[in-house]
Amino acid sequence: MKKVNVAIVGATGAVGEQMLETLEKRNFPIDNLYLMASSRSAGKKIKFKDKEYTIECLTESSFDNKNIDIALFSAGAERAKEFAQYAVKNNAVVIDNSSAFRNDKDIPLIVPEVNAHAIKNHNGIIANPNCSTIQMVVALNPIHKKVGIKRVVVSTYQAASGAGLTAMEECEQQMREMLDGKKVTIEKFAHQLAFNLIPQIDVFTDNGYTKEEMKMTTETKKIMEDDSIEVSATCVRVPVMRAHSEAINIETCNPITAKEATDIWKNSQGIIVLDNPENKEYPMPFFCTGKDEVFIGRIRKDISTTNGLAFWCVSDQILKGAALNAIQIAEAMLTV
Ligand SMILES: NC(=O)c1ccc[n+]([C@@H]2O[C@H](COP(=O)([O-])OP(=O)(O)OC[C@H]3O[C@@H](n4cnc5c(N)ncnc54)[C@H](OP(=O)(O)O)[C@@H]3O)[C@@H](O)[C@H]2O)c1
Repeated sequence: MKKVNVAIVGATGAVGEQMLETLEKRNFPIDNLYLMASSRSAGKKIKFKDKEYTIECLTESSFDNKNIDIALFSAGAERAKEFAQYAVKNNAVVIDNSSAFRNDKDIPLIVPEVNAHAIKNHNGIIANPNCSTIQMVVALNPIHKKVGIKRVVVSTYQAASGAGLTAMEECEQQMREMLDGKKVTIEKFAHQLAFNLIPQIDVFTDNGYTKEEMKMTTETKKIMEDDSIEVSATCVRVPVMRAHSEAINIETCNPITAKEATDIWKNSQGIIVLDNPENKEYPMPFFCTGKDEVFIGRIRKDISTTNGLAFWCVSDQILKGAALNAIQIAEAMLTV
């Protein structure tokens, strides 16, 4: 792969930090690296591959005269909407982790295991899907290809770090405060998360689902290029530090047994099947943290319908759900 100039916008955040670690681990071919964040972090030093880099404050001119090839954005939707255009104007391809461009029909929404072919349709911006959607479509796609999926019912158990670094820190702090019998600090979440669950992620929409839940519906159709797949999601924040879990029930067009699905998943890219109930082996967030793959377990026939499967799916949402998926998109671009 030829070496390229890379910018990370939001380099000090949960996803940005993971991007740096993943770029280094995968030996991504970087020539020059530029790190950007808000004015709060400007001047801060960050080490990457034994070299020290200084964080720049993101401005309209941050991309001028740098010949940036790939700009990995992970600084939220507002920043993406405002600043991605300046990167594109300077001939960079933006891979954005926020929700800013995901529903734009002219912007590809990519999970490389599912729709890498759509990368080439970009006009300067590629969207990285929502973290809970990414791990779900990696699991759904090989089954959909084999027997067709009509309907998906999913409940998520989403880690605190899905709301960013400071949210994860707040959850930790709340746990300490609870154990010490102190008043609990609530700033990032709507309610106390420690020793609790919050059945709301993002704001509510008119149909009673939250925006996070509707992302799972609309993004699944777009990535899997099939508007007929119906998805009903319930998204819940749980006091887990990292890695999202999902209980997924699918209704398929044609019959499939649990054994057949297991064999398909065992031979699918990016998936590890961990399903030995007799030995109490199944995926759990604590053990999937820091791992690249989507883990699937508790695979069984759904006894409530004729053609149905039930399974449990866990993945590190900062890795496959964000940083790793974005870098895999960049790698796919370079190898085309
Ligand atoms: N966390 C996840 O699991 C996850 C998964 C998938 C997608 N995402 C998406 O990825 C994006 C980043 O999430 P995160 O969890 O990494 O959030 P985070 O930990 O809160 O980090 C946010 C980053 O954005 C930067 N930023 C904030 N305001 C800025 C501004 N005005 N100008 C420039 N930079 C600014 C922050 O810089 P400072 O440090 O200077 O404030 C920081 O680097 C979001 O769009 C999120 O929805 C997150």
